Amino acid sequence: MLDIAIIGVGYVGLVTGTCFSEMGNHVTCIDKNQAKIDALNGGTIPIYEPGLEEMVRRNTKAHRLEFTTQFTEAIAKATVCMLAVDTPVGPDGACDLTSMKAATRQIAEAMNGYKVIVTKSTVPVGTTNLVRSIITEVLDARGVDFDFDVVSNPEFLKEGSAVYDFMKPDRVVLGVDSERAAKIMRELYRPFMLGSDRLLVMDTASAELTKYAANCMLALRVSYMNWLSNLAETTGANILQIRKGIGSDKRIGSAFLWAGVGYGGSCFPKDIKALRQMAKDHGISTALVDSIEEINKAQKSLLVTKMATYFEPFGGLKDKTIAILGLAFKPDTDDMREAPSLVIIDELLAQGAHVRLFDPVAMDNARAILGNRSEITWCQNELDAATGAHGIALVTEWKQFRLLDFTALLGSMKSKAFFDGRNQYTPKEMTSHGFDYISIGQAPAMHLLSKDFLPHEMDVYAHGE
Ligand SMILES: NC(=O)c1ccc[n+]([C@@H]2O[C@H](COP(=O)([O-])OP(=O)(O)OC[C@H]3O[C@@H](n4cnc5c(N)ncnc54)[C@H](O)[C@@H]3O)[C@@H](O)[C@H]2O)c1
Repeated sequence: MLDIAIIGVGYVGLVTGTCFSEMGNHVTCIDKNQAKIDALNGGTIPIYEPGLEEMVRRNTKAHRLEFTTQFTEAIAKATVCMLAVDTPVGPDGACDLTSMKAATRQIAEAMNGYKVIVTKSTVPVGTTNLVRSIITEVLDARGVDFDFDVVSNPEFLKEGSAVYDFMKPDRVVLGVDSERAAKIMRELYRPFMLGSDRLLVMDTASAELTKYAANCMLALRVSYMNWLSNLAETTGANILQIRKGIGSDKRIGSAFLWAGVGYGGSCFPKDIKALRQMAKDHGISTALVDSIEEINKAQKSLLVTKMATYFEPFGGLKDKTIAILGLAFKPDTDDMREAPSLVIIDELLAQGAHVRLFDPVAMDNARAILGNRSEITWCQNELDAATGAHGIALVTEWKQFRLLDFTALLGSMKSKAFFDGRNQYTPKEMTSHGFDYISIGQAPAMHLLSKDFLPHEMDVYAHGE
């Protein structure tokens, strides 16, 4: 059993702390946000993550998991102090280490003996050394001399399956330069490695860069498929067939080859920017990362361009109502950071459209960003969103959207356009339900735009009245 302090109780810190406590350790989670800590101590979990709530409850009840805003006691009793604070992108495009530096100082102020200080946050190469120098500086100022080690341990969990990923990691990367710290870190992760040892011990610079390398590779695959989807659609090819054609090649593999509305979330966008800045700082070409970002930016607007094209004969998007299914940046999370839905909604509103929004769990977070406006209707469910809409746009592929009651949806709509931003359905099934089906990287499947096929309101547009 180890005593662990986790600093920063966000998506990573809360999952990390909870999973370590699940393995029998004593964990104190520290956050500067008093309201968050009060909520957690009152039994409210601030994020949606499958399986997390039950695990938090079980471990707090067993007194293995605690939440506080106070560093002193938590750091004093901890052997391992893990930094899981936010590392956003600053105005200059570089990773902003303000939270890391502040939290490191707070650890150093509270140190009372040997500690392993672990950077769990995604941080640029050199941050481990920076943390080391801050601690030395504070200990010197305090006039004390304690041994300590700094370890880089980037996190690879995915929001939406974070608990599963943490409990059953593909690998755990440790950048470590002391045998003493390596021994403690091995002990910490041993319960997660019982089936097979997936601990990769390396130097700290490689560990720090590995995290950025992984995210950039994944974003590269997404942008490549999105870029290719546009070429496929224009040349009469089908991106879904191409996905199978290339994914079956073992050297390529089929994961992360879906074309869609672009990547979002708290990690890819900021990590790609930070990696670009790192390359720039070291005089390395940024052309590759520039393209990843450029393609992604354009892809986030693509669905609205398709909507504008579809509605062009009927007066454009002005005064049209679009139902948006899914707001979170991906399914199984309530995280709205950099979500493609935000770009889509902004562009629809800018063109004079109204939107009816529904997401299974991200409604509160979305409302906090978008606010209450007359052009936005917050809906109870999929059918509510579709009611009176001219088009439906599937933006986040929540499982519950896979088998929708298409007859009811179409019956409640003013028109019959379905824009599938995630290629969840097939043109054949959607046209058989009566929709005009517009997706990504394959030909649109339309009913004839004759007046017989147009519901009443579109009929009016078709005749230019
Ligand atoms: N979210 C993910 O899916 C994910 C996955 C892998 C890695 N990461 C990385 O992990 C890190 C954390 O990400 P997140 O999404 O959990 O962030 P987050 O913004 O959800 O949480 C960060 C928390 O740190 C707290 N904090 C900041 N400064 C503090 C201080 N001085 N003292 C105490 N608390 C402090 C904030 O109040 C906040 O609650 C980032 O570097 C991120 O890139 C995130």
